[in-house]
Amino acid sequence: MIRKQYIDMLGKKDIIFEIFGYANARRAEVGPDNVYDFSLGNPSVPAPPEVAAAVREITEGTDPLSLHGYSPAGGIPQVREAIAKDLNRRCGISYEGKHIFMTCGAAAALAHAMRAVTEPGAAILAFAPCFPEYAPYAEGAGCVLKTVPADTESFQINMEAAEKMLTPDVQAVILNSPNNPSGIVCSTQTVQALADLLERKSAEYGHRIWLISDEPYRELLFSGTDSPYIASYYADTITCYSFSKSLSLPGERIGYAAVNPAAENADLVISVMAQVSRTTGHNGAPALWQRVAARTCHLTADLSVYEKNKDILLAALREYGYHCVEPGGSFYMFPRALEEDAEAFCRRAMEMDLMLVPGDNFGCPGHFRIAYCVPTEKVLASLPVFKRLAESYGA
Ligand SMILES: Cc1ncc(COP(=O)(O)O)c(C=O)c1O
Repeated sequence: MIRKQYIDMLGKKDIIFEIFGYANARRAEVGPDNVYDFSLGNPSVPAPPEVAAAVREITEGTDPLSLHGYSPAGGIPQVREAIAKDLNRRCGISYEGKHIFMTCGAAAALAHAMRAVTEPGAAILAFAPCFPEYAPYAEGAGCVLKTVPADTESFQINMEAAEKMLTPDVQAVILNSPNNPSGIVCSTQTVQALADLLERKSAEYGHRIWLISDEPYRELLFSGTDSPYIASYYADTITCYSFSKSLSLPGERIGYAAVNPAAENADLVISVMAQVSRTTGHNGAPALWQRVAARTCHLTADLSVYEKNKDILLAALREYGYHCVEPGGSFYMFPRALEEDAEAFCRRAMEMDLMLVPGDNFGCPGHFRIAYCVPTEKVLASLPVFKRLAESYGA
């Protein structure tokens, strides 16, 4: 017997990795210089040198038995303290180590958070456009993901639609800012409005609605963009974070969930997450990378290339006739496709060896995602192809 639920998931393969696989095949066929691959959110800048130095110092300076031993489910106590201290410096909330739960990236933080604060059968609300993996995490928690349609003029939250969809069965809401795929950063006004709505609905329904704030792109902010720290606006917030993008360590699978100390039963939520780990077999983030994160969490890779790439692409695309809301952070942008069917648009781009991801995957048809975490030379080389693509639509 093989579980049908997972067999069914095979039929809904991860399109982003499929496009990336196709790009690899084309690279072998026509040479890497002739393929413009904007499919995958894999950082294009190396981790800062302090990361390698920390790995060396930790591996050379720690007794191997202690270094490679099991870590407690929530993480190594000193690591949790260090993360809390760094977070407090950045955001002005008084986290203690006990509020930090170390995880294998933001993915595991999200999956733990969703299971910890919902009952099976509940709904979890997300805002389009959003990360496609929210649906399997929610399903894993026995919940249903409902997606609020996007406000495609600004990609801030469509508050009217959100209010309608925030029905009594919703037990958690996921917000992602800076956003994958739009690159939009939620304004203070948006965050405040969402917090007010959650307060109102929690009071009306007689149960607290949790806010799960997905923040792997928190440090990937462009100049002039203000990024409110979301947990400061709503007490019952779990912040899910990852060092994948800020330190360029996606393969090391290291991140955390931080439960706002002001949340109802904050300590219990953390204890419950340890029980969630038992049911999934997560059982702690990698011990070496926890220690590295504790030493380097105040740093980032040199992220400046992402803003440079954004500026080049945005100016050129607008000149060629694409409509695009300017991103405030991350390494994505989400222009309008030049035909209604974004999948057909992306297929046409693919024929030109330009790899883009249709917005349908993010719950927002009619748009496409560009992951510009690539060398700037590649962005510059791709511009004539974007132009040719626009011209093929008579733009
Ligand atoms: C919005 C969003 N959330 C969560 C994740 C998962 O992050 P990680 O790979 O660090 O677990 C990603 C990864 O790309 C993401 O884009």
